[in-house]
Amino acid sequence: MQTVQSSLTSNLSGLFDTLLAQQLANPRDRDIFRVRWQRHFNDCFAGLQALYAQHPAWPALLEQLAQRLVSAYAQRRDALKIHDLAREIEPDWFAQARMVGGIYYVDRLAGTLRGVIEHIDYLQDLGLTYVHLMPLLQPRYGPNDGGYAVQDYRAINHELGSMSDFVELSDLLRTNGMSVCIDVVVNHTAKEHEWALKARAGDPAYLDYYLTFADRNLPDAYEQHLPEVFPDFAPGNFTWYPELGEHGRWVWTTFNEFQWDLNYANPMVWLEMLDILLHLANLGVDVLRLDAVPFMWKRLGTNCQNQPEVLDLLQAWRAAMRIVCPATIFKAEAIVAPDDLVQYLGLGQRTGKLCEIAYHNSLMVLLWSGLASQRADLLTQSLLNMPATAGNATWITYVRCHDDIGWAITDQNAALVGEDGPLHRQFLSAWYSGEFTGSFARGEVFQYNPITNDRRISGMTASLAGLEQALANADPTAIELAIRRIGLLYAVIFGFGGIPLIYMGDELGMLNDHSYVHDPCKANDNRWLHRPAMNWALAAQRHDPTTLAGRLWQMMRSLITIRQQTPALHSAGQTIPIWTQQRHVLGVIRVHPLGRILILGNLSAEPQRVALSVIHEAGLVSNLHNLLEPAQLNIDFQSAEIVLDSYQCCWLCGQTKNF
Ligand code: GLC
Repeated sequence: MQTVQSSLTSNLSGLFDTLLAQQLANPRDRDIFRVRWQRHFNDCFAGLQALYAQHPAWPALLEQLAQRLVSAYAQRRDALKIHDLAREIEPDWFAQARMVGGIYYVDRLAGTLRGVIEHIDYLQDLGLTYVHLMPLLQPRYGPNDGGYAVQDYRAINHELGSMSDFVELSDLLRTNGMSVCIDVVVNHTAKEHEWALKARAGDPAYLDYYLTFADRNLPDAYEQHLPEVFPDFAPGNFTWYPELGEHGRWVWTTFNEFQWDLNYANPMVWLEMLDILLHLANLGVDVLRLDAVPFMWKRLGTNCQNQPEVLDLLQAWRAAMRIVCPATIFKAEAIVAPDDLVQYLGLGQRTGKLCEIAYHNSLMVLLWSGLASQRADLLTQSLLNMPATAGNATWITYVRCHDDIGWAITDQNAALVGEDGPLHRQFLSAWYSGEFTGSFARGEVFQYNPITNDRRISGMTASLAGLEQALANADPTAIELAIRRIGLLYAVIFGFGGIPLIYMGDELGMLNDHSYVHDPCKANDNRWLHRPAMNWALAAQRHDPTTLAGRLWQMMRSLITIRQQTPALHSAGQTIPIWTQQRHVLGVIRVHPLGRILILGNLSAEPQRVALSVIHEAGLVSNLHNLLEPAQLNIDFQSAEIVLDSYQCCWLCGQTKNF
């Protein structure tokens, strides 16, 4: 095997040299490519070998891979090549405390890409260094799952603008210090994508791009272990297409019937998708959000998520991209259980070889759980049970995103703090849908599954945190509490470690938007409740602190400024959850050579006390001060306790003890 491999790689090395000589005029460019090839190709090869060495297309795959890598590099603009070098010199760029992101649908924010260009001052004013533009590649016509059913990965959704608008916007964002993230739906394509059209037209090579079955035998066998992602509007995981094959075939459709899962057991699919990733990176995209990655490999008898092969697929892509366009990093969209989730950041042998960032879904879910129960124990316990991640990959921390909240809380963690998992999850759904007596929230149930009793939740941050109800009741105390809840959630995710993301409109307290029910393409999907069009009238009030929008804006601005002035919040530091001896108060220590910060978050509406001894044990011995509100540190010296106001979050600093 070893000899086969070395003869393969030495043949490849020769092929690379020929291709480089043919396609790259500048000898320096060739040298740079070679250095990167020597550094990263083994990781690419190892991933591919694990997956495809037995496949008849294996030698062809390697040859085509070499060709595509060199031609993508030859097409890369000089400005981006310089950007690559800058990022290689500063490989921790995404981990620094200055990183703060925002998430926007282009049409909801400003109509079109040109509209975003006109509103770039708003993003700058907020202080963002990272902008996630929600799906903007050409989706299918009609219902398209918010753009996640892509018909053409090389075209911009024409309703949003042109490719040159996008390149102009991303260049502009970058020159203004903002990195650009876009979505790439890697698990499936729209059924109108050219590959699917060719499959439907009877081309067997393209039929093999998808997972299709002549009868129900295998689909039924798989279904026994498969969950349903959209049990409500897209039950089951397979759809019958009578025009496929000779007599019709079942197509694997994890999501909607119009989203066809790709067959990554076919190496050509991996290669074609790599070509797309390279193409997007060459447009100047800094972060590729790989959508629905856990689903990319199927195995009978499992839930077909998080299979080890997915990590091989990612590793091979990651390494290939590092040879051509190292400025571009990967964000994993893996909304899965904590032990599975951390794998995507690269553990053990895969350290530094997978995605640089991944959504911290667990933290998001547990924060909402903590707010509803006013308790920190489940949050603390679950965080303590999460495997540590390596310092060169980090989290995306967030409070809300465009998707629903699924209560991904394990029964084991719940049991460890004396909770019943299923009951607690039911409580959370009842709380956030507003059914539970005394609930402050105004969300809606998304995808009730009568078999599992699972009820996920839709809703904007402000509505879930109580602002909508408080405003409807014109209740100033409730308004104040809602603002504090929003402030607490964001203060925790800003300090936790990783890139914090502000969901569009949260900086102004935008509420649920029910208008989607009038659009037939959206009406059955209440995730549109929390995808409102930007309220520019509200945004115009942002500098007026007497308005609600102004207060929230100021709160967010101040969090951003303080975070950016605190280099110790660099993600390479450790994040260590602690027990505060106070069930209502979350405690997280951030440890970095530049400083130690203790985050304390009071999840309850009542003031709470934390013993100074807890703070001392966390390593802060004297000169305590609160980075978030320097004047707001209430120490009761008599009882030797810190008093936290309702929903207050502190980032405590001070003299540290010698460790
Ligand atoms: C991701 C997206 C979600 C979409 C799904 C299918 O989870 O965030 O909005 O429905 O993928 O593409």
